[in-house]
Amino acid sequence: MKRQWLMVLGLACLIVLTAVNGFAAHGEKRQEKKAILLAAFGTTVPEAQKAFDQVEARVKQAFPGIEVRWAYTSSIVRAKVAKQGKVLLSPESALAKLMEDGYTHVAVLSLHTIPGEEFHNLNQNARLFGQMLDGFEKILVARPLLSSREDMERVAKAMLKNIPAGRKPGDAVVLMGHGTEKHPSDAIYLALYHTLQEMDPNAYTATVEGYPTIKDILPKLKEKKVKKVYLMPFMAVAGDHARNDMAGDEPDSWKSILGKEGLTCEAVLKGTAEIPEVVDIWVDHLRLVLDHFQ
Ligand code: CO
Repeated sequence: MKRQWLMVLGLACLIVLTAVNGFAAHGEKRQEKKAILLAAFGTTVPEAQKAFDQVEARVKQAFPGIEVRWAYTSSIVRAKVAKQGKVLLSPESALAKLMEDGYTHVAVLSLHTIPGEEFHNLNQNARLFGQMLDGFEKILVARPLLSSREDMERVAKAMLKNIPAGRKPGDAVVLMGHGTEKHPSDAIYLALYHTLQEMDPNAYTATVEGYPTIKDILPKLKEKKVKKVYLMPFMAVAGDHARNDMAGDEPDSWKSILGKEGLTCEAVLKGTAEIPEVVDIWVDHLRLVLDHFQ
């Protein structure tokens, strides 16, 4: 009987101690400190980096007074840029720094185009950061560019609006998306293809690494007897893919592939992050997340 009481007493003490510990850690409410983390794939092309400066300016204007920081999801880009003498943080390093600096609420914006591999890794790791003891009170990830039917229509309209004014009837436009063989979200490029076609039968999407490819589009251009094609990157920045795989002089660039078939190409070296109507969509996604902090 006596031993049983001792056990009960011991257990009660343990509960009280745990409660006290918990109280000490979470009882005092920390002052709310909000931050935005802009997470892009990144680019090795210094001139393309200016597109990110425009995004930052727009975000700061939309959410004044909130700390804005950057992270880059591509380890290859980070390593190459490090050789140029510039340090770019991974989302994990940037989040650790924000945690250390005492931020309580973090809104991460995925400046990617589709919810593919980059977005999923970012989202997964951000969630894990949210589970750390005495870490962020709240961390949420805003969705990438093409995340709804409405996004798709807004993006298609914005891209068509930004084709150079010199385009004549019968001139085609082909957007270069990145695409992926590794993620089911690649199908979003085909959905965009369809959306563009409904708005403008001479506007197409193709991808570097997904479906459709430029070789799938070529027969359609020939069938319509297109003579001139505007090539535009459909990536946040006009980086390596846009400059080399799209507009480069190598025999396997899109310009060369179409050129060999007698089509004249004009490349527009402007990333989607340089198109204000597109940036507005990203900003709207960020706003949705920040509204949860109210
Ligand atoms: Co790539």
